Amino acid sequence: IKTKVCIIGSGPSGLLLSQLLANAGIESVVLDRRDRAYIEGRIRAGVLEQGTVAALEEAGVADRLHREGLPHDGFELAFDGARHRIDLAGLTGKSVMVYGQTEVTKDLFDKRVEQGQQFFFDVEEVSPRDLKTGTPEVRFLHAGEEVIVSCDYVAGCDGYHGVSRQAIPDDVLRTYERVYPFGWLGIMVEQPPVNHELIYANHRRGFALASMRSATRSRYYIQCDLSDKVEDWSDARFWEEFATRLGPETADHLRTGPSFEKSIAPLRSFVAEPMRYGNLLLAGDAAHIVPPTGAKGLNLAVADVRLLARALTEHYAGNDAYLESYSETVLARVWKVERFSWQLSTLMHQFPENSPFEARMQRAEFDYVASSEAASRSIAENYVGLPLD
Ligand code: FAD
Ligand code: DHB
Repeated sequence: IKTKVCIIGSGPSGLLLSQLLANAGIESVVLDRRDRAYIEGRIRAGVLEQGTVAALEEAGVADRLHREGLPHDGFELAFDGARHRIDLAGLTGKSVMVYGQTEVTKDLFDKRVEQGQQFFFDVEEVSPRDLKTGTPEVRFLHAGEEVIVSCDYVAGCDGYHGVSRQAIPDDVLRTYERVYPFGWLGIMVEQPPVNHELIYANHRRGFALASMRSATRSRYYIQCDLSDKVEDWSDARFWEEFATRLGPETADHLRTGPSFEKSIAPLRSFVAEPMRYGNLLLAGDAAHIVPPTGAKGLNLAVADVRLLARALTEHYAGNDAYLESYSETVLARVWKVERFSWQLSTLMHQFPENSPFEARMQRAEFDYVASSEAASRSIAENYVGLPLD
C-alpha cells in the first residue's frame, strides 16, 4: 500500500491528525493494535481547553461538542477545608469545556469513517523502518497477513506504550521522567455532580477531585496507594473516603450510587526528545506524559497534532520550515505544560516522603494563591491553555 502519511495509533492524536490532513487533501492510513469499540470505550480525560475546542471545530467535528459539552468559567481548589475559586473567565477571558475523551473519539471516528478513511485495526508486530530515508515503511500483521505501507512520513501517535518512540535509536533519544508515589482511583456514576464546577482538594488523607461528564453523570477521583487494587475499593469505601476528603460542607451535596466504571491510573511525568527522527514524527502520549492534575494530557496531544498537521500541510505546499522546527516548537510548549502539571500535582497531593516543612510549604503556597490575584491568574492562564507557539 502506498500513502503519504502512515499514522500509527488511532487514539485522539492519530484520529485528529488524519482528519486535519484529509481536510488539507493529504491522504493517510491509520493503524491500531485495538479496535474501534475498545478505543471509544476508554474512559480518560474530561476537560478541553479553548484551543482544543478550536482544533475540533477546524477539523469539522465540534457540532455535538457544542450541543452537549458543558462550558466552565472556573474551578475550585480546596485545602483542608479552605476553598478558593479560580475565576478562569474573569482572570483570562477564557473558559474550558467539559466533554469526555470517549465522546471526542466517537465524533472523530464517525467523521473519518463517513469520509472513507483507510483503517487497519487489531494489527500486530508493527514495525516502522527506513526512517532516515525518503521512503520509510511500516510493516505489520493484519488478520495474520503481512502488510507493508510505503509512505513519505510516519506519524507516531501510538501512546506511551507504543513502538514509534522505540524506533528512535538509544544514542539519539533522551528521556526525562518522574514517577509519583501514588495513583488515582477513578469512578463514574450516574448521579448529578456534587458541585457545578470542578473541585480539586488536598486533604490530610490525600487528594480528591470532583469532576463530571454531564448534568447527570459524575466523574470522581481519589489519590490511592500504588499497591491498591480496584477490588480493594468497594463503592461504599470509595464514597466514605471521597466524602471525608471533600469535607462536610461539600459532602452534604454528594449524591452517591453504584459506580459503573472504576479504575486506577499511575501518575507520571515523562518527556522524550527529540520528537522527530528522520521522517518519523511523534505526537501526544507517544512522546510525553503528564500527571492528570490540571487535565493537560489530551489537550497537549491535540496541540502537538495541530502543529504536526500544519508542518505536513506546509511541506506539501512546498515550505519545509515548520517541519524542520517541529520538534523544537512542540517541545518548548510541552515543557511548560509539564511544569504546570507537575506543580499542581505537587501542590494538591499528600506525598508520603514529605517532611513537616514541605507540608507547610504546600499550605503556604495554597494560602498565597488564595490571596494573590497574580498567582491565581498564573494558574488560570495555564489551565485554559497556553498559546500554540
Ligand atoms: P492514546 O490515547 O494512548 O492512543 C494511542 C493509540 O495507539 C491507542 O489506541 C493504542 O491502542 C494504539 N497503539 C499502541 N501501541 C500500538 C502499536 N504498537 N501499534 C499500533 N497501535 C498502537 N488526560 C487528561 O487530561 N485527564 C485525565 O483524566 C486522563 N486520564 C487518563 C487515564 C489513563 C488511564 C490514561 C492512560 C491517560 C489519561 N489521560 C488523561 C491522558 C489522555 O487520555 C492522553 O493524553 C490521551 O489519550 C493521548 O492521546 P494519544 O492519542 O496521544 O494516545
Ligand atoms: C478530569 C480529569 C482530570 O485529570 C482533571 O484534571 C479534570 C477532570 C476528568 O476526568 O473529568
